[in-house]
Amino acid sequence: MTKLALAERVAALAPSPTMALDAKTKALISQGLDVVNLTAGEPDFDTPAHIREAAIEAINRGETRYTPVGGTVRLKAAICERMRAEIGVEYGPDEVLVSVGAKHSLFNAIMALTSPGDGVLLPVPYWVTYPEQIRLAGGEVQYVPIAPEHKNVLTADDIRRALKPNTRGLILNSPSNPSGAVIGRRELEDIAALARERDLWVISDEIYARLVYDGMDAPSIAQFEGMRERTIVINGVSKAYAMTGWRIGYALGPRHVIQAMANLQSQSTSNPTSIAQAAAEVALTGPQEPVEEMRREFDRRRRYAVSRIQGMDGLSVHEPKGAFYLWVNMAPLIGRTIKGRAIRDADDLALLWLEEANVSVVPGSGFGVPDHFRMSYATSLERLAAGLDRMESLITG
Ligand SMILES: Cc1ncc(COP(=O)(O)O)c(C=O)c1O
Repeated sequence: MTKLALAERVAALAPSPTMALDAKTKALISQGLDVVNLTAGEPDFDTPAHIREAAIEAINRGETRYTPVGGTVRLKAAICERMRAEIGVEYGPDEVLVSVGAKHSLFNAIMALTSPGDGVLLPVPYWVTYPEQIRLAGGEVQYVPIAPEHKNVLTADDIRRALKPNTRGLILNSPSNPSGAVIGRRELEDIAALARERDLWVISDEIYARLVYDGMDAPSIAQFEGMRERTIVINGVSKAYAMTGWRIGYALGPRHVIQAMANLQSQSTSNPTSIAQAAAEVALTGPQEPVEEMRREFDRRRRYAVSRIQGMDGLSVHEPKGAFYLWVNMAPLIGRTIKGRAIRDADDLALLWLEEANVSVVPGSGFGVPDHFRMSYATSLERLAAGLDRMESLITG
């Protein structure tokens, strides 16, 4: 039988390294097993009622046709207004592009800015999608290890050490998935100075910016002198408004880059769903209390989960200041044998926990750090407690 040859660009595309574990988790759940799933990358809350209503009203008004490729005039205005309120940077409607989720916004931005052979700096740990998108664009991924004493918070010194002659751009993600680290104003200012000095573009993924704790705020690098013209800010409604399934993300940046991204989008997906755009507009312009309510609940869970992990032998965590993940160091467990199984890395530990205790976390190999794992607290306090009990029971014998 003939087997079609694949194009080079997809043949080299790595499937998610956590897919096997993910498939196993789902298989166990579908067999009816009570698995505590701490792998979720999305809020466990429903989309607030007034946003759902807005979508139904949009359907009934007949807003079911093509919209402009880059988003409706009203949604773009709502995004500009919200960005002004949140990060204090002014953008006009021709400096905004609405896409099918923030992942799509990132794809458009990376494709628009990366030429084959260009180096793109990627701080470690990184969200799994970035390296693959950089490679799809023909770019060279240039990893930026963060010095351990910086506790997952990227600094200009870390970046300086990773620079190469072909470096053209930098991916920032604060608050970070997976570490939850938030880059403070002072560090960000130094990073901005370095970007200007080395003439780098910056893609700043701020999708978790509304989910910050302990009185932190998550500044945007676009706020700093001379940065608006070299930064593409990425954001969206998925995480803050519990709207992951609606697929609305957006990018804000210099007009010519946004135009290039819109051209790419016009020849691929065209406009994001009209109904989801109407809902996103109401999310951004309507009452913001639901965001605060969800944030407060995440914060409660965060504090609980951090204290539990800190009390477990062999595990440690730097308290995350944003997002809804704990990034846990399990290095002291390496070399131990638990239930007759040797633990060589977090992949082994995650598999052990899943098979022997029915609790699922994401090993760090996919994020570039095999002796860490990510656990999500986007689940109820009760389930979180049950998951942590199960984890603890195995590693304490
Ligand atoms: C850091 C980061 N950026 C972007 C996204 C994608 O968001 P969206 O669902 O809007 O595509 C995610 C989702 O997990 C994320 O963690």
